Amino acid sequence: MSSVVDIYKKYQAQTFPYPSLLKIKKAIGCYIFDTNNKKYLDFVAGVSANSIGHSNKYITDAVKDQLDKYTHVMVYGEYIQKPQYELAKLLSENLPKSLSTSYFTNSGTEAIEGAMKLAKRISGRSEIIYFKGSYHGSTQGALSVMGNEYYKSKYRPLLPNCKQIIFNDIKSLENITKKTAAVIVETIQGGSGFKIANEDFLIELNKKCKQFNVQIIMDEIQTCYGRTGKLFGFENSPIVPDILCIAKGMGGGFPIGAFISSWENMNKLTFAPKLGHITTFGGHPISCVASLATLKFIIKNKLYEEINEKEILFKKLLVHKKIKKIRGKGLMLALDLFDNKSTNKIVELCMDDGLLLFFFLFNNSSIRITPPLTISKEEIKKGCEIILRNLDKI
Ligand SMILES: Cc1ncc(COP(=O)(O)O)c(C=O)c1O
Repeated sequence: MSSVVDIYKKYQAQTFPYPSLLKIKKAIGCYIFDTNNKKYLDFVAGVSANSIGHSNKYITDAVKDQLDKYTHVMVYGEYIQKPQYELAKLLSENLPKSLSTSYFTNSGTEAIEGAMKLAKRISGRSEIIYFKGSYHGSTQGALSVMGNEYYKSKYRPLLPNCKQIIFNDIKSLENITKKTAAVIVETIQGGSGFKIANEDFLIELNKKCKQFNVQIIMDEIQTCYGRTGKLFGFENSPIVPDILCIAKGMGGGFPIGAFISSWENMNKLTFAPKLGHITTFGGHPISCVASLATLKFIIKNKLYEEINEKEILFKKLLVHKKIKKIRGKGLMLALDLFDNKSTNKIVELCMDDGLLLFFFLFNNSSIRITPPLTISKEEIKKGCEIILRNLDKI
């Protein structure tokens, strides 16, 4: 008889040669349980997606309630659905006036696709500038603006007129001209291991974009919904984007994304041609109620106010001769080791010891720490103890 691992490997498409093979039974709060009932403290949160913990009752009640009413009834935008307009309204109430109107998608990468199309419609131009080390998703538009050649070279030709420049390099911003439709930027580069955009760099970027009427598309797919200690990452900076992309933690574990801009900008997708962006399931009512519950929970409990203290606690506890530094902000932390060959080993050892950690796409000397925002100080201490005692073993 085939084992579960054989079935998984044979019938489910594999994109990574060495998956962890953790067999999931259930997940509650900051813990995941395997099929042998072994309990793991989760410092990954589905790669920043489970912002308020696993099986949070606030979300599951909202989802169950919506399941009893209706699920999919129509393609995006045709019918008036309370989960969608309530979420759009609450987002607008928590964003600057220029970011008033949301288009809901199924994922982050689809939000990026929509934002790139919108920038073309607003500007009438096609050039998109992106940064080395950036990750915006894996579809062909998003791949065209990925700042890593290894992952894109086999998929060429990609979109024309996409130009890579250097992150945090003010001189590089001279490439922004009147031909540019948009610059796409992360406030914290996720794939590169949580590299933060410098404030003076963002100010200069903003200045250049205003000078040439270029749209700033900000990818807040990982930083949104409180992860950096503010509801949105750009609130840590002096600039406001023209188009904001959010996803991941926005759904509290359910699939949803959004690109958000002014009503006037969004209106460009309504005419000539109409149906400027189409999706069947984007803004699914179940995902929208999950996202609404997540946002309300974060605001009601002022979760973002505790993030700074939790970041400080992590940085205070994670001191070890094998740790070079801790990068990142809020609960987006990257543990940089002196010996980059040890990252796999430490993730493996910690998993055996009941703690889940994870990797970065473009940075193999760092380890990802992105627990649910609801993690307690006791749980942080417990997880850090596991990391330290396993660092002693390597
Ligand atoms: C910064 C950033 N942008 C875009 C994406 C793509 O989002 P999704 O995987 O939901 O398509 C991700 C996903 O990891 C991300 O971290």
